[in-house]
Amino acid sequence: RARIPFKNESFTDFSKEEHKRAQAEAIEQVKSELGRTYPLIIGGKKITTQDTFASVNPSQPDQVIGYFARATVEQANEAVRVAAETFEKWQYVPAEERAGYLFAAADLMRQRRFIINAWMIYEVGKSWVEADADTAEAIDFLEFYAREALRLAGDHPITQVDGEDNKLVYIPLGVGAVIPPWNFPCAIMVGMTSAAFVSGNTVILKPASTSPAIAYQFIRILEEVGLPAGVVNFLTGSGAVVGDTLVDNPKTRFIAFTGSRDVGLRIYERASKVHKGQRWLKRSILEMGGKDAVVVDETADLDAAANGIVTSAFGFQGQKCSAGSRAIIVEQVYDQIVQKVLDKARQLSLGDVTRPDTYMGPVVDESAMRKILEYIEIGKNEGRLVLGGSHKGPGYFIEPTIFADVDPQARIAQEEIFGPVLAIIKAKDFADALHIANDTEYGLTGAVFTNKPERIEQAQKEYHVGNLYFNRKCTGALVGVQPFGGFNMSGTDSKAGGKDYLLLFTQAKSIATKK
Ligand code: SER
Repeated sequence: RARIPFKNESFTDFSKEEHKRAQAEAIEQVKSELGRTYPLIIGGKKITTQDTFASVNPSQPDQVIGYFARATVEQANEAVRVAAETFEKWQYVPAEERAGYLFAAADLMRQRRFIINAWMIYEVGKSWVEADADTAEAIDFLEFYAREALRLAGDHPITQVDGEDNKLVYIPLGVGAVIPPWNFPCAIMVGMTSAAFVSGNTVILKPASTSPAIAYQFIRILEEVGLPAGVVNFLTGSGAVVGDTLVDNPKTRFIAFTGSRDVGLRIYERASKVHKGQRWLKRSILEMGGKDAVVVDETADLDAAANGIVTSAFGFQGQKCSAGSRAIIVEQVYDQIVQKVLDKARQLSLGDVTRPDTYMGPVVDESAMRKILEYIEIGKNEGRLVLGGSHKGPGYFIEPTIFADVDPQARIAQEEIFGPVLAIIKAKDFADALHIANDTEYGLTGAVFTNKPERIEQAQKEYHVGNLYFNRKCTGALVGVQPFGGFNMSGTDSKAGGKDYLLLFTQAKSIATKK
């Protein structure tokens, strides 16, 4: 298997009747599984708690997806203890065996693709296409990191000197707290978790409280493929209790986090404190927010640009760190682009994501909805509301919302909203547009629509983002193809899905032997 080169999983073509039917059936099947109660899993033991919380369907908040345990501080510390104990053996398990679990998990995910999609449709309100891309990306991460672990376990070129044998080996770090986001509840959760354990670490997976059921599907898969108990522990609960405890524990060796800037900064600061009995400097791998922009110049294909803007802004309701929440348009084509963007955005369907053709579903929960609606109110004083702006109940639906003529320094042009709100900004010329694009504290993704080679060259040098795209949308990075991660307050630029990623979960040991 490992000898077959990595190739991205293709997306399901839902125009085919058989796929449509299979997805609809999976949605029905998952519906019959909603509302169950789920345990914590520590060292393979399933632990139920009195204190639980409900994960609900954001399209229909009275529908409970599942009840999850609220772990205590003691249980979080126990999970770290068990993970540390498990690490003693797991660190020496050969890479071939560790990678084997990922290949086997990828196979099960392929078999269950429609079921996993359905969990995402219910639990976070993904459209069919977005859910399917998420599952495909999860499979990609498993296939990619399995191969990477084998590569890392192999020989690495080193300069040799007479009279000695020298080599460099990569060894794991220890116990990791893996704290993934809800917006790619399968892909990023699977990617971060599998990267950590395939490198020989043991993990406490603390899923986001709005998407624990999807994480549980993965945990079941890991059990089924026979991953030894204690390698991945499953700990649900509040970020403030469970998250902080995992970060603070002196036996925790690293923290892999993807989520908001504020939580990322909190982890960064807490992880830097050396606690009593701690023997290392904790490593933090942090992927945070974005205020990404799509730049359009006067030479661009205007229809393609408008399409790129709309897809980047409104795919999964704008709830992506990669979302193009700003469109920066040069003066000459500004009015034309605004019109084209409006025409396209007006056609987006908003509503029932259990149906195949719905483009946009709800935002993830009530607090996200409130925050987005607050930003829309702020935006009304900062720009010209040209589309949307309202909540459509009873679920957490917000119309695709567009503000035109927004000042580059306005709050809605600087702060990450994480919802379907696009700020359109007018630039004097291309240089001004690039300057505006760079002028936020983030630096994650960016797109440029232009037909001038010298501008492509200029943007390649000057546009300071981790993932830069030309003449296409700024979302949807592919594993292996566009390693993903950003600059500045977007995080530590970990480049998930790239050849450098597993290095973050390992340390290198140089070994010299005199002949
Ligand atoms: N990797 C995703 C994208 O590129 C974001 O996390 O859209």
